[in-house]
This record gives sequence, structure tokens and C-alpha cells, in this order.
Amino acid sequence: MHTHHDEWILILDFGSQYTQLIARRLREQNVYCEIHPYNAPKKDFENHPPKGIILSGGPKSVYDEDAPVLNLNYFDFNVPVLGICYGLQSLAHSISPDSVEKADKREFGRAELLINDHSDLFKGIDDGSTVWMSHGDHIRNLPSPYEIIAHTQNAPVAAVKHAEKPIYGVQFHPEVVHTEDGAKILENFVKEICACSGDWTAASFIETEIEAIRKQVGDNKVICGLSGGVDSTVVATLIHKAIGDQLLCIFVDNGLLRKDEYQKVLQTYKEHLHLPVKGIDASDLFLDKLEGISDPEEKRKIIGNTFIEVFDKAIENETEYKFLAQGTLYPDVIESVSFKGPSATIKSHHNVGGLPEKMNLDLIEPVRELFKDEVRNVGRELGIPENFIGRHPFPGPGMGIRVLGEINREKLSLLREADDIFIQSLRDHDLYDDVWQALAVLLPVQSVGVMGDERTYEYTVALRAVTSVDGMTADWAHLPYEFLAEVSNRIINEVRGVNRVVYDISSKPPATIEWE
Ligand code: XMP
Repeated sequence: MHTHHDEWILILDFGSQYTQLIARRLREQNVYCEIHPYNAPKKDFENHPPKGIILSGGPKSVYDEDAPVLNLNYFDFNVPVLGICYGLQSLAHSISPDSVEKADKREFGRAELLINDHSDLFKGIDDGSTVWMSHGDHIRNLPSPYEIIAHTQNAPVAAVKHAEKPIYGVQFHPEVVHTEDGAKILENFVKEICACSGDWTAASFIETEIEAIRKQVGDNKVICGLSGGVDSTVVATLIHKAIGDQLLCIFVDNGLLRKDEYQKVLQTYKEHLHLPVKGIDASDLFLDKLEGISDPEEKRKIIGNTFIEVFDKAIENETEYKFLAQGTLYPDVIESVSFKGPSATIKSHHNVGGLPEKMNLDLIEPVRELFKDEVRNVGRELGIPENFIGRHPFPGPGMGIRVLGEINREKLSLLREADDIFIQSLRDHDLYDDVWQALAVLLPVQSVGVMGDERTYEYTVALRAVTSVDGMTADWAHLPYEFLAEVSNRIINEVRGVNRVVYDISSKPPATIEWE
């Protein structure tokens, strides 16, 4: 729940696949917003009312038996309201139940917006601007006191406005990029109509968050597990700024990290970011426990549990720790808040799942309101070096799921060398930032090769590089042939034990990014 943003917009979620996009678009205007289920009780927000409310779209028809119903108490806030698609229909339906009807034809795709009223919502927007429609129902009889402020060729009611109050509705989706002036329409709503100043920036976030952390933590102490990734690093740096040495960070070498990663990252944490960090080399413990295990899920479980064991041991005598800091992001939070009801449980981070209950620690999650790119901006503002901010994601189980099948030290060492050549080459050729994630995989097969006059029988390395926005879907990166040739040559020449390199050209779905 929000606590400390002066100006904010409440987005009530009626289940649309685009609800997160509404939030993205408002944040781009530097306006803070939160998504809550459509049936969240109004009293949750009474201590800190929003400056405006957006009703999202949704997959239902207002006539469906289990259709989500608009809670009219929200109008008591007396703030502007914008209903989008289902949001608009539920506004009309609440006044006149027969105002919405099933359209003869479902309408999907582009339409031209013909504007009757350019005064506020459509200020500065030209007639004929493209909008994106996606609906089955539409409004037939617009109930008064609503008035039509825009139409399209197929939809006589494309946008409406209440005659006396700042209540609006649009049939199209201003939040999707296909709606040409969608960002401007949302900007008009939040800045002109709701009068938000748009002062929510990384710097202001840091300032308010530092204050909030100080208040939450008091004189207590906080521990934070670092992974070498952006999220946990930003969290630790932010908390350190707030409470200094009341924070202790722990960075574990699980023996499954990239080449030189443990030393390099530990050094960055200490020397550049000045974080109070305790490095723990637990690689033998992890690798011994993984011996003989080949099932990927079993490997993950062992790695997760061993992490908890190591973490637990590291602070077993440090009883003054009351908080555990985690890099939970907003998409994780939204994902776990079902729009069907507010009985949400928040996903625990895979690395430390189980630890908070076991050790009686309260969670502190300072970036749980942010999207990934916003976390990066906060990191930049905190002075975290750019090459750290732009690092590719790296999974918690690390190379444990990149040596396919059974893991041993020798295979890990081969993979580390091959992976290092691939990643360094991407950096040397300025290709690193063009791909979302890159990795090498050691396959559990050996094949015949010839080197000099000798027949060889050695391992195969698969290279994988993908482009993606969020890792949910991905395409294989179209890296230049010359580059791939060079990397392949180097790996086969320099990594003894590998005689074949292949490049993975599968997209996700149906493949995944990792091989295990
Ligand atoms: P997949 O392989 O599911 O990966 O397409 C999507 C993203 O998630 C990462 N990944 C993991 N991260 N623990 C993690 O912390 C895991 O067990 C795990 N498995 C996959 C993967 O690297 C990619 O960025």
C-alpha cells in the first residue's frame, strides 16, 4: 500500500490485459499511480485519497453474471474519473442498466477518432487521430447527464463526458501504443483534469523512500542478500543511504557464478558502492550437495535450500536483525494480486523464500512499487556505475542450470571459460547492450571432432543470446555471422574439452531462455 506519495492516481483493475500499461503510461508522465482490484474497499485509501481514478478495461460484459461491479462509493472522493472500455461501460451501466448492448460485430483494431469537444480530454489532439479498439459490447443509449465528446465511423459513442462533473469515459484504449495520441490523452487527464504536477522522479522517489526506510527500521538492523544483479544492488544502496551501517549485506559464492564474478562484484560492492558486505565462499558446500543430481527442479531446490542454510548460519548469532531486504518489483506484486479479490499473497523471492518466517524477520521491499526500468533509473541516480546497471539478468541457480544434467567442477570450469569468451566478445564488439540476455550452455553430449591429426571426442557448447522486453517472451538475437564465427573459433581453440559450438535459434515460446 502506498504511504508517502503526495499525488497519486488510483487505477481500479477490472481485469484487462492492458492494466499494467496504463500504469506505465502515467509513470512516464512522472505521475505516481497504483493498481488495485476493482473491489478494493474505498476505506483503504481514505487516509490518503488519490487525485484521480482510472477504471481499466476488462474481459467481461457488464451483463455477465460474475461481471465486476463498479463501487459507486468511489465517487465520494469527488476526484476526476476516467473509464476505459469496460470502465466506460460500467459507468453507463451504473446509471442505466440497458445502456450497454452487445455489438453486432466485435470491434478490434484501428479506428479514426472524430472529436466533437476539444476542450479538455482531447485538448491539442487532431481530428482523425488513430485509436485502438478492442471490445464486444458498446454503448447504445448514452444516459444523461453524459454527453458524447468523440465518435468513430463505427462507434457513435467513442468518448463521453459527464455534463457537470469531471467524469470521462473512452471506448478505445489510450494506453496501447497503437493509439496515436494515447499518451497525450492520458496526460491531459492526469495533468489538466486531475491537476497532478508530475513531480514523481527517481530523485524524489529516493528522497521519500529514504525517509520511509528510516521510519520503518528505527534503531533496528537490516540484512540484505546480494545477487550481483541490479535489483538487489539498488535496494542495498538505497537502504545504506538511509540507515548506514545498520545494514549488513551478504554475497554468497555458490560455485555457480560466472568467471571471476565473485571477486569482481565483491570489489565493486566494497570499493565503488561502499556497501557493508560480507562475502561468503560456500562453493564447496553447494557443489558437494549437487553431486550426482541431474534433474533441473531438484537442482533448483537444493540450491535454494543451501542458500537459506548459508544465509541462516551467517547471521545466527546476530540477533539484532529484524528486517530482511528484498528486491521485489512491481510486476511481481501485481502478478500476485488477483483482480478477483484483495486476498493477495505476495510472492517471495526464490532466493530467500522461507527465510523470513523461519527467522522471524519482517520484509522491507523498497522497490516493490517500481518497474525494472524505473529501478535502473533509481540506480543511476544513486551513482551505481552504468556497466553495472546494464548487466544482463542472471538466474539465482546460475551455471547450475547451464551445465545440463549432472554438474561437476570440471564441467563448470569448461563452461565458465566458454561463457567468458562469449560475454567478453559481446562487450568488445559493442553488442552486449543490443541483447537482453546472453549465455553459454554445456551440453551433456560428446561428439567426434578432429584436431591436427587427432580424432577428438569432446563436449559441445551452445550459445544463446536473446532480445526481449521482460523475459516473458524472447526472440533469438540475430548476431552477425562473423561475430559468431570468431567466438566459435576462440572457444574451440582456447577451451580444452570443447570441440563443437552451436547457436540456439529458438524463440520463447515455445522454447525458454534457459535450457533447464
Ligand atoms: P526462462 O528460461 O524461463 O527464463 O525463459 C526467463 C528468465 O528467468 C531467468 N530464470 C531464473 N531466474 N531463478 C532465477 O532467479 C531461476 O530458477 C530461473 N530460471 C530462469 C532466466 O535467466 C531468464 O532471465
